[in-house]
Amino acid sequence: MIEFRNIEIKYGKYIAITNLNLTVQEGEFFTLLGPSGCGKSTTLRGLVGFTTPSKGQMLLRGKDITYLPVEKREIGIVFQSYALFPTMNVFDNIAFGLKIKKLSKQEIEQKVKEISRKVELNQMQLYKNVSELSGGQQQRVAIARALVLEPSILCLDEPLSNLDAKLRGQLRLELKRLQKELGITTIYVTHDQEEALTLSDRIAVFNNGCIEQVGTPYEIYNHSSSEFVCDFIGDINRFKKNILELVNEKTGLLFNVTKDAFIRIERVHTNPVMKSQFVEIKGRVIECEYNGIYTKYTYSVMGETIKSIEKNDGRACYNIGQKVPLYVDPKDIMQFGG
Ligand SMILES: Nc1ncnc2c1ncn2[C@@H]1O[C@H](COP(=O)(O)OP(=O)(O)O)[C@@H](O)[C@H]1O
Ligand SMILES: [Mg+2]
Repeated sequence: MIEFRNIEIKYGKYIAITNLNLTVQEGEFFTLLGPSGCGKSTTLRGLVGFTTPSKGQMLLRGKDITYLPVEKREIGIVFQSYALFPTMNVFDNIAFGLKIKKLSKQEIEQKVKEISRKVELNQMQLYKNVSELSGGQQQRVAIARALVLEPSILCLDEPLSNLDAKLRGQLRLELKRLQKELGITTIYVTHDQEEALTLSDRIAVFNNGCIEQVGTPYEIYNHSSSEFVCDFIGDINRFKKNILELVNEKTGLLFNVTKDAFIRIERVHTNPVMKSQFVEIKGRVIECEYNGIYTKYTYSVMGETIKSIEKNDGRACYNIGQKVPLYVDPKDIMQFGG
C-alpha cells in the first residue's frame, strides 16, 4: 500500500503539488491522469525520490519513505524516453542492475531470460544492440530492466507516448496482462484518457496540482464529480439556458437554468429505440466528421452547437443542412456544484 499524506512539492517558490492525499492499494493498477503540466510527473518523481516534498509524508507498506534515498525504495521506473544504455546490447541493459547487486552469472542469466519471456522479447533480440530495435521493443527492454530487480512498485511515466497508435494499443494490452500476472502495484502516468480508462483499476484525475476525483474508470466516466473531470475524460455537449428551459418545459423537471449543464455526445440520439422517455430537440447538421467506424455530427440547436456520434452501420447518415430530431434522456443531463 502506498500513502501520500498532505504532500506539497515545490520548484523554487512555485507550488507544483498542493496538499496531495492519496492511497493506492496493494496490487492495484493506479493511474495519474490529467492535462500536460498538472503535476503527474512531479508526483511520481516525489514517490520515486527524485524530488523531496516540502510538506507531508509518503508511506510504503506503512514505512515512511519521504526522505529515503532513491536506491533504497525498490521502485522500478519506466519513462517515455526509454533511457537505455545505447552502446550495450539488450541482455546487458536488462542485466545492469543485477550486476550492480553482484548476483552470480547463472542467476543473472536465468532472471534476464525469464523476464524477457514475460515481456515477449525473444532470444535473438537479447543479443542485439538496443539501437537496432524498434520503439516498441526498446520499451519492452525498459520494462524488463525495471522488473528484473523485482521492485515492490512499478512506476511508468507516459511509457507509450512515443509509439504509433496501433503499437500503443497492442502494448497497452500486454502491459495490462503482465501487471495482472505479476500482481505488482503499478502507478501509471498518462494524459491519454483512453489509456487510463482501459488500463486502470482506479484513476486519479489531476487538475493544476490537485486531485479532482479518484475512482474506477466507470465511476470517473459515468459519475464525474466536476465539469473538469467530465470534460477531460470524454466528449461533452454544453446545454445553456435556452435548451434547459425547453427540457424543463417538456418534462416538468427543474434543471437550474442559471447554470450550464452537460451531456455526453454519445447520449444524444437520433434513433432511440424508445422515444417516450426522451426529450426531442430539433437540430440542423452543420458539420460532419467522418471517422470510418463512426461519424461525429455537429448540429445547430437554438443557437448552440450540439454533437452526436453515429456508428456507420448503414442506419444513420445525414447531410449538411439536413434537419434532424435529436433525443436526450433527462437522466443523462449532468449539473455540477452548488
Ligand atoms: N524542474 C522543474 N522546474 C520548475 N518547474 C517545473 C519543473 N518540472 C516541472 N515544473 C512545473 O511543475 C508543473 C507540473 O509539471 P509536471 O509534473 O511535469 O506536469 P505533468 O507531468 O502533469 O505534465 C508544471 O507547471 C511545470 O512547468
Ligand atoms: Mg509529465
